[in-house]
Amino acid sequence: MGSVAVLGSINMDLVVRVPALPLPGDTVLGDRLLTVPGGKGANQAVAAARLGARVRMIGRVGGDEFGRQLVAGLREDGVRTADVIVDASEPSGTALIVVEHGGQNTVTVAPGANRRVGEEEVARLRRGLGRDDVVVLQLEIPLDTVMAAIAAAKDAGARVILNAAPSGGIARRPVPFVDLLVANWREAEELGGKELERSVGALVVTLGADGSKLYADGRMTRIEPQPVEAIDATAAGDAFVGAVAFAIARGAHIPDAVRLGGAAGAAAATKLGARPSLPFPEDLKRLFGIELDDVHD
Ligand code: RIB
Repeated sequence: MGSVAVLGSINMDLVVRVPALPLPGDTVLGDRLLTVPGGKGANQAVAAARLGARVRMIGRVGGDEFGRQLVAGLREDGVRTADVIVDASEPSGTALIVVEHGGQNTVTVAPGANRRVGEEEVARLRRGLGRDDVVVLQLEIPLDTVMAAIAAAKDAGARVILNAAPSGGIARRPVPFVDLLVANWREAEELGGKELERSVGALVVTLGADGSKLYADGRMTRIEPQPVEAIDATAAGDAFVGAVAFAIARGAHIPDAVRLGGAAGAAAATKLGARPSLPFPEDLKRLFGIELDDVHD
């Protein structure tokens, strides 16, 4: 079984639930403030680790209390943090998250130390990377770093999963070849829609409560959703990507990995907050009767 290496963002999330999302200029009163670890990269690392993958996190936090808590939180979940750099010149990344009853949210990220993830992290990613490993990337760190990481991973013969979230800047650049690109429908449109199918090994378009579509080997496979009562969609995509990485590192075929991802994403939507919502094997068993021992090639 290969390892999972995640190079990406590490944030502290400040979360508040409101009756309805504010419109520009509105002030709304919400519930109690929840302060929980997040960041797309760190969430995906933890999601894979909770299911049983060997996971290494590569990234950067600030030299502040949030940074200390974020590294400790990753370790508690069994993620290796030797390649998380503490950067005293920056605050840790922070996300302001507003969730409405019903599960929709808005997320605003102050990247802080994530903005400085660069060559040093790519060199650390490359070190010790093997052919069986799976490299997981997202777009909350500088795009040039993501591109260099893809090249380094390919050079090592590792497989690459790119989660095109948030899509932002990459819309103006051609998507490099990756083994699996995961995007929600809006991100997929921004990245060039149908053209994408030809430029990557496989493409998954996630559709929230409608499941997902997998485009691979010239055909589309519809992956049906797991019905759940959604409380908060935050990190559902991260649970999805982490579970897919876990399954691929274990040797699963992509359609099976994507089915597991869908279940993990649905499970995450049933709880408030990013990190607290990422499922353990027992959650997948309780909610959907999924046994992880069945996940292999
Ligand atoms: O995908 C959810 C994550 O996006 C949150 O944890 C937040 O930190 C932002 O990075």
